Amino acid sequence: MCGIVAAVSDRNIVPILVQGLQRLEYRGYDSCGVAVWQGGLKRGRSTARVAELTQELQADGIQGGTGIAHTRWATHGVPAVKNAHPHFSHGPKALASDAARVALVHNGIIENHDELRAQLQAQGYVFDSQTDTEVIVHLIDSVYESQAKGDLLQAVQLAVQQLHGAYAIAVFHKNEPQRVVGARAGSPLILGVGSEQLGAKHENFLASDAMALAGVTDQIVYLEEGDVVDLQVNAYTVYGRTTTEATSAPTTVFAKVERPVRTVQAHSGAADLGPYRHYMQKEIFEQPRAIADTLEGVEAIVPELFDPLSGPAKAAQVFKDIDSVLILACGTSYYSGCAAKYWLESIAKIPTQVEIASEYRYRESVPNPRTLVVTITQSGETADTLAALRHAQSLGMAHTLTICNVATSAMVRECELAYITRAGAEIGVASTKAFSTQLAGLFLLTLALAKTRGLLSATQEAQHLKDLRHLPAALQSVLALEPQLIAWAEEFARKENALFLGRGLHYPIALEGALKLKEITYIHAEAYAAGELKHGPLALVTSDMPVVAVAPNDALIEKLKSNLQEVRARGGVLYVLADGDSRLQASEGVNLIRLPEHYGALSPILHVVPLQLLAYHTACARGTDVDKPRNLAKSVTVE
Ligand code: M6R
Repeated sequence: MCGIVAAVSDRNIVPILVQGLQRLEYRGYDSCGVAVWQGGLKRGRSTARVAELTQELQADGIQGGTGIAHTRWATHGVPAVKNAHPHFSHGPKALASDAARVALVHNGIIENHDELRAQLQAQGYVFDSQTDTEVIVHLIDSVYESQAKGDLLQAVQLAVQQLHGAYAIAVFHKNEPQRVVGARAGSPLILGVGSEQLGAKHENFLASDAMALAGVTDQIVYLEEGDVVDLQVNAYTVYGRTTTEATSAPTTVFAKVERPVRTVQAHSGAADLGPYRHYMQKEIFEQPRAIADTLEGVEAIVPELFDPLSGPAKAAQVFKDIDSVLILACGTSYYSGCAAKYWLESIAKIPTQVEIASEYRYRESVPNPRTLVVTITQSGETADTLAALRHAQSLGMAHTLTICNVATSAMVRECELAYITRAGAEIGVASTKAFSTQLAGLFLLTLALAKTRGLLSATQEAQHLKDLRHLPAALQSVLALEPQLIAWAEEFARKENALFLGRGLHYPIALEGALKLKEITYIHAEAYAAGELKHGPLALVTSDMPVVAVAPNDALIEKLKSNLQEVRARGGVLYVLADGDSRLQASEGVNLIRLPEHYGALSPILHVVPLQLLAYHTACARGTDVDKPRNLAKSVTVE
């Protein structure tokens, strides 16, 4: 989704800005732009890729030491150059020839933009774009002139108090060309401190993600909710925001604060593809290593595995105090939560609810302070999941735990407990290794809760640990099935619809398989609990409808076989993912791939892999943009 990079430096910063944008490209965007101070405000914007923007900037000779840059994922207004950031304000009643005064980039959504636009238009500001963002740049210009006495820091501090919604911004003014001011609320923003060791002392940066600054600085300050930061060449100051509601009119005060500087080894988004054609393929094949890394150091099932990265150990007490689990997540992460519900209720015998974060945050629910709220998120920055967490906390549910892939994310900072999956940077928009490592983390959580509740014997614990340790090898043998899935993909590439079926623990795997297929191939795919077929979707089945069945050799296999007969009887063509030890056979209209023998409770981690490969190779056969599917973003930082 949208990305920000900004800098104040004593050297030409344009190459660093565009390199930062390139590192953020994986998040998904539809336009991009850069603005610098070059004796005046200069900018280049494009609806093409960052590489083309870079050529345009070079051709136009755009360079400077102070600059802001952005990748935009359209929310308000179509993808178009006029809607691309940076946005400029020329002041009220400006003539076309008047010089721009303020430049700004923004991530997030301003909810009261209509109201602010009307006020600013009444003052004479002319809007060039359809974006919500443009109100911020004119508002800052207006406040700069009227109340802030020509001080950009003060103008930003005053202006943000009028904004409702989510924002991370970076802004500079023509009168203070060696200063960039940043602010955040609801959207992430980090500060990169010019690192002497990396040869860059006289400069400081802002970015929406530390990855944007990989190789530039590893000295990172994570700005907190409401912070405003004043960035100059040799210094930076962070101001924390507090609002007092003691009187009828709440007062907001900004005061200098010290935020810790952390050394962060951010992965570069431009990680080497090695022998792979796409990041998604690479990430599918990285799963044995990702699972091994995620489980590294797990010698026994103990609550301490979930203790916070810093601060006192709490997990043991929390696990004793809780009587239920509420899982909150979006997309693929939601499906890993759906699978975990089966584990948590059958193994740990703990009542578990799984909710789509964007639904939970807006519905009236019945809070239970003894619930453990578990968020699942690859990025740790998904706006809906963060908002759902905060909503649960506001309802008095203080026990929170996240299964997250980014140790430095807002989610990890805001949860009481955490399990960090070590999938490594996931670049492909379609989540793969994040999903399987989330399942591994959720299985450990299930075992830890089962043990706390006296439901895990030493023998069972040892057997589960043995199975977990063997997972990387089992995954390798599933990955070896790739040629058979390529053959299936050739058939799927010619279809426009597909059904996915599963039962029990593998129903969420069918849901994830359908999501993967639609996300990157644009084939309409739906998943059903196989027993639901005859209650409606069976009407869709014809010889033109491929039906994928996730068919492990578990307790439900005989039930599933009956469901598959229902499909065959209507001429539907089956694509069955069975286990080596099952008695299912290929026949006319029944295509069959056998995974290794049934892997018990951990079987979903294996069965999802062929579905990822099927989606990937179908997308390749259809020639879609696998790593950056249309309309989608990697990190969904707006609601
Ligand atoms: O970073 P998160 O895990 O919170 O992201 C949640 C979803 O946006 C994400 O899983 C999305 O559904 C993926 N693109 C699916 O492949």
